[in-house]
Amino acid sequence: MNSQPIFRSVLYVPGNRLRMLAKAPTLPADAFVLDLEDSVPLEEKAEARRLVREALISGAFAGRTVLVRVNSLPSGLTADDLKEVVVPGLFGVDVPKVESPEDVREVEELLAWAEGRADLPRGTLRVGIGIESPAGLLRAEAIVRASRRLVSLSLGAEDFTFNLGTQRSSTGEELFLPRALIALTARAVDVQALDTIYPDFRDPEGLIREARLARQLGFTGKYAIHPDQLEPINRVFTPDEAELRWAQEVVEAYDAAQQAGLGSIAVGGRMVDRPIYERARRTLELAARWGVGR
Ligand code: COA
Ligand code: MG
Repeated sequence: MNSQPIFRSVLYVPGNRLRMLAKAPTLPADAFVLDLEDSVPLEEKAEARRLVREALISGAFAGRTVLVRVNSLPSGLTADDLKEVVVPGLFGVDVPKVESPEDVREVEELLAWAEGRADLPRGTLRVGIGIESPAGLLRAEAIVRASRRLVSLSLGAEDFTFNLGTQRSSTGEELFLPRALIALTARAVDVQALDTIYPDFRDPEGLIREARLARQLGFTGKYAIHPDQLEPINRVFTPDEAELRWAQEVVEAYDAAQQAGLGSIAVGGRMVDRPIYERARRTLELAARWGVGR
């Protein structure tokens, strides 16, 4: 497994909501995205920048991973967002509505400029990319290859389905291909794929169903909009006891088999060879990372 960060859950926090900004650090998200974009009305952008800056420099998020979602390039607000919120300790920037590799290069320039102003070494800030249109999705590979700062790739399903001329259904057929493409593209450059939000925050069963589907497609985590969504999301993206037991059994048996010169063996009535062994090792690494099974 690579040394890239893995976020099981990433909580959006509207940047203009002081109470939510204050509550966020008490919540079990692996990362936070303080939002200046779609959850903040135009007339509150300036206030949101100020509140987010204060939250960042207050130290309330010390030891946590925090990104800011800036406004999209076409909004014309991105530079002003960065000017105010790029401060020491900020992990990175989520960029919404990315459409092309040229957009990414423009973001790179803006980040270098903002880092310079904040006395941060160039390249400090990482970038999460949000694809939210069919045009962006079809250029996803070129987009992710355009930045070395990349930390995640995601699909913004609400904007995406709007741009596709449809809407989200409870069963998600309209998102099947887009999700699969996002997961494939992220894997191709070895960054995490983060699944889109589940808007119905009073429906934990639906959330869990969707998170499992995402995990099955290759996503390693999922965005959340509400505190109640964090625990279920973390659980789905953490190996459970049965997976852990199976992985331990496989690794033990396969390590012993390799000593004896064997490359494929039977464990519990199932064939185990190299990729199955590697997957089991990854399961153990993930479990160790999340502190389960010790
Ligand atoms: N981050 C931090 N705290 C949050 C939160 C969030 N995203 N969402 C809710 N909370 C807090 C509330 O402030 C409340 O705290 P309190 O008990 O101290 O008052 C508590 O969690 C329970 O919230 P609840 O009353 O159940 O929800 P709500 O009606 O206040 O808010 C939403 C519901 C959907 C408006 C809110 O969750 C939200 O704004 N989510 C983020 C939306 C967003 O960022 N969208 C853009 C990305 S898609
Ligand atoms: Mg949006």
